[in-house]
Amino acid sequence: MASELTYRGHDGSPSREEGGTYTAKAQKGWLLSASYTRRVGLLLQDQRFLCVLLGIALASTVFLAAPLFSPSSTSTVGTVHLPRRPAYGRWDPLVDGGGGALDGRLAGGLVAGATGGKIPLGLRRKTMRILVTGGAGFVGSHLVDQLIGSGHSVIVVDNFFTGRKENLAQHFGNPRFELIRHDVVEPLLLEVDQIYHLACPASPTNVVGTLNMLGLAKRVGARFLLTSTSEVYGDPLQHPQVETYWGNVNPIGVRSCYDEGKRTAETLTMDYHRAAALEVRIARIFNTYGPRMCIDDGRVVSNFVAQALRKEPLTVYGDGKQTRSFQYVSDLVQGLIKLMEGEHVGPFNLGNPGEFTMLELAQVVQETIDPNAKIEFRRNTEDDPHKRKPDIAKAKELLGWEPTVTLRRGLPLMVSDFRRRIFGDHAGDGTTA
Ligand SMILES: NC(=O)c1ccc[n+]([C@@H]2O[C@H](COP(=O)([O-])OP(=O)(O)OC[C@H]3O[C@@H](n4cnc5c(N)ncnc54)[C@H](O)[C@@H]3O)[C@@H](O)[C@H]2O)c1
Repeated sequence: MASELTYRGHDGSPSREEGGTYTAKAQKGWLLSASYTRRVGLLLQDQRFLCVLLGIALASTVFLAAPLFSPSSTSTVGTVHLPRRPAYGRWDPLVDGGGGALDGRLAGGLVAGATGGKIPLGLRRKTMRILVTGGAGFVGSHLVDQLIGSGHSVIVVDNFFTGRKENLAQHFGNPRFELIRHDVVEPLLLEVDQIYHLACPASPTNVVGTLNMLGLAKRVGARFLLTSTSEVYGDPLQHPQVETYWGNVNPIGVRSCYDEGKRTAETLTMDYHRAAALEVRIARIFNTYGPRMCIDDGRVVSNFVAQALRKEPLTVYGDGKQTRSFQYVSDLVQGLIKLMEGEHVGPFNLGNPGEFTMLELAQVVQETIDPNAKIEFRRNTEDDPHKRKPDIAKAKELLGWEPTVTLRRGLPLMVSDFRRRIFGDHAGDGTTA
């Protein structure tokens, strides 16, 4: 059987078993002499099992290594190449904090990403090529750490509106990492398996960016994850908030652009899922904090921490009795990855159900940074939600996920990062003041 395949594949000459020889090749004017060809043929005949094995090995090598050498369509678009740093390993946010220090173990096997839908099912490797929009931001950069640490190839698209290259400096020079300066409101074509869509300016362009990324996911057959927000619940009339609650959002208020933008993004995501059979996932993220947060972005945790470190009063808006729940970033990243890898579309609330009033939060910040920090009350902003607390029963049951880091344990990790960035101080790393 093997000889049949061997011979008929060439020129249809009769096989040796049928009394034929290879000399037909010489008759066709080939450069090799008849006797030489015959000798090689005999040799190959004797070693044919070995040849078959060698052939399989060669084909597998080419097959597996191809993505390493095939330039992605992004390679000409502003990829950043900076000095190589050697260690790329699994990232433990509680150990490595915000510095992105990695433990040097290469978590994955072969590193290049496979392109979606092109590899026969049984042969698909676990490593993928993953796009993270907004990957230079707070959450995105931690997500990238985790994905790279798991052996995936990651492409970050970011326009650095609020994100920073420094958040990703630990991956510069890693061949499995690419960074593209690009605004997601402009279309983009990349060959990827999964898209984590985090890029989100709090403006109507949020919707356009989401539409573009959904279009990309549809075109290349990638799975798409939208990072929505607890703001879709508005000022909720139901407490705690369950995913089935439709929310209470003012469509024309000062916060509407963000809230309604994300609600529209969810709508578009579900429409693509229904109409184009796109694989989608929706995460509704509740307040998240941790190292690499924007220092002056106006979010309550970063405000309080920066103010306490700078010896400024902590500004509490309203009476300080409004509640929020605070999730450490590593818990969120685990939730996002479980959601992306799981079978369920969502939406899923991803947040820490521990509920704090603003005054309680201020107190934790005082305990952690400066017991003498003063509190200053200001008039509250319009449409500020009175209560926020996720019901995470669905995520617990279907994703097997729940947060593990308490506020008192996570806050010091953020404080040391903020202290370093505000004062250039490394002495207090990992400690509370
Ligand atoms: N951090 C939270 O507490 C929280 C809560 C709810 C939802 N979310 C959602 O999670 C995602 C990430 O949030 P984050 O806290 O990391 O915010 P972030 O501002 O730190 O990160 C957003 C990133 O997107 C980039 N970006 C913005 N507009 C862009 C554009 N048009 N094109 C390309 N890049 C663009 C920014 O430069 C930044 O790097 C966002 O979608 C946000 O709405 C976050």
